[in-house]
Amino acid sequence: MSKILVTGGTGYIGSHTVVELQNNGYEVIIVDNLSNSSIDVLDGIASITGKKPAFEKIDCQNKQALAEVFAKYPGIEAIIHFAASKAVGESVEKPLLYYKNNLISVLNILELMGEQNTYNLVFSSSCTVYGQPDILPVTENAPVKPATSPYGNTKQIAEEIIRDTIHADNRLKCIALRYFNPVGAHPSAAIGELPNGVPNNLIPFVTQTAIGIRECLRVFGNDYNTPDGSAIRDYIWVVDLAKAHVIAVERLLGNKNKNGIEFFNLGTGKGLSVLEILNTFEQATGVKVNRKIVARREGDVEKVWADPTFANNELGWKAETSTEKMLATAWEWEKRLAKKNSMS
Ligand code: UD1
Repeated sequence: MSKILVTGGTGYIGSHTVVELQNNGYEVIIVDNLSNSSIDVLDGIASITGKKPAFEKIDCQNKQALAEVFAKYPGIEAIIHFAASKAVGESVEKPLLYYKNNLISVLNILELMGEQNTYNLVFSSSCTVYGQPDILPVTENAPVKPATSPYGNTKQIAEEIIRDTIHADNRLKCIALRYFNPVGAHPSAAIGELPNGVPNNLIPFVTQTAIGIRECLRVFGNDYNTPDGSAIRDYIWVVDLAKAHVIAVERLLGNKNKNGIEFFNLGTGKGLSVLEILNTFEQATGVKVNRKIVARREGDVEKVWADPTFANNELGWKAETSTEKMLATAWEWEKRLAKKNSMS
């Protein structure tokens, strides 16, 4: 049973990936500082897979603590590095927090890979590296544009650091996965997205409005150059996204990746506007979402969606889940949270 170290494994995408790894027979060790997640996520994972993953409360900025994890769990074959801060707005206000947290972690992971003879890395990147692409759908070969936030910049810089390090040490291999907009929750509703405070992202704000925690969803802009004027994104179900990580690990362990570092777009290939998402949510759940149109949000791009052909062909992976289904799982999760909160 291959051992996989998952940093940020109690987070949103991390927890869904741990489930898929365990369901595919991998032994998972999670490290997470719990700064933006809850220890209860481990119970959620166990209720789905029948097994609680090993867990170490560690901040990835602490290299010594990470080194001790390698000593405690010998034979780790790959690392999936999710641990990072991800709020775009917060990154503008606290850039150093973002540069420190997101980049020191990457430096530590890369150093440890060489020192601990663990040569395989899956890195969480983002479609933010493309900015507003000139050509849509966007392929992996599209130029990386100047970042619109310190958060986005950390993803670009991290990709470069990894590329240079792998270039210099040909034992190391990496698959960088560029996520489009992950949404929804596990169908069991045992794990899902747990935003800290007021959500920044669209779907948790939609579900919180639908359930009455928030009064009204603000649609940021209806004057974009899109069919209905609202901005367009490629929303991908978090479970489909999680499955791609298992395939990436298999590819690395099977020595099938090319050029040391590879980049893959993880999206559906379909762009949907904010208003289309709201309408689909209402159709899928039968629940109305109070909304009002407000000004554009600073830093937002107008439209972006993936060309996932490379991932489809090379990884044999495809995100096929319907928008209705992904949004329905987000709603089931929100209802589950409400029930839990009312009992506590
Ligand atoms: C952003 C980042 C992405 C990052 C993700 C993590 C950019 C360009 N994108 O995605 O890299 O991985 O956050 O958090 O930096 N919207 C509303 N009302 C709301 C919330 C959102 O209308 O209350 C709209 C936004 O304007 C946008 C769409 O919904 O058009 C999606 O927004 P969001 O979920 O925040 O994701 P991104 O901004 O696309």
